Amino acid sequence: MEKNIVWHEATVTRARREKMNKHRAKLLWFTGLSGSGKSTLAHALEEELHQRGCRTYVFDGDNVRHGLCRDLGFGVEDRTENIRRIGEMAKLFVDAGVISLTAFISPIREDRERARGLFPHGDFIEVYVSCPLDVCESRDVKGLYKKARAGEIPNFTGISSPYEPPNKPEITIETQNRSVEACINEMVDALEQRGVIPTKVV
Ligand code: ADX
Repeated sequence: MEKNIVWHEATVTRARREKMNKHRAKLLWFTGLSGSGKSTLAHALEEELHQRGCRTYVFDGDNVRHGLCRDLGFGVEDRTENIRRIGEMAKLFVDAGVISLTAFISPIREDRERARGLFPHGDFIEVYVSCPLDVCESRDVKGLYKKARAGEIPNFTGISSPYEPPNKPEITIETQNRSVEACINEMVDALEQRGVIPTKVV
């Protein structure tokens, strides 16, 4: 890091933004295999939160790799750097008062723990989107598993590159044989119980 850099404190603080938003800012860190349902669930949850008047933003693996992380590949070092950047970016969004949702495979436990370490205790909520590899592979939404099996994609997570499931995720969502709606209801309940999102006023 450069030496001559001084942190500037804002007068408009996170606490003041949260007060204006009428909800706390949090980070929901989705992790799971390609095709497990991370993006689908993150976007569906965002829709629900938005309808409840929450300020939200989803960071999605494929999208971020088109811009901020376009220089990164899928080797171990690049994935670590990918997750480092996402963590730092999400930290800024949480400071901006936003309920941030990140949907990256983030296969390495240590990388996720490093991202967790950027946040005050309780603000980083790890959501393990759990789905057996053979089910993800049979879904093959993007046709990438087929290519990976044919040896056309090196370092493919679950096939030729590891995925380390979380040891103690705050939330685990099983997506095999379940509707998006059922998964979202389960998540919303868990988040309400934790006081992360305001309960719905009917
Ligand atoms: S991460 O491992 O660094 O967290 P990230 O979530 O950004 O991965 O990107 C994963 C997406 O990139 C996958 O959903 C898939 O569409 C695409 N992809 C391309 N090559 C690979 C690969 N070798 N392994 C996993 N995903 C890949």
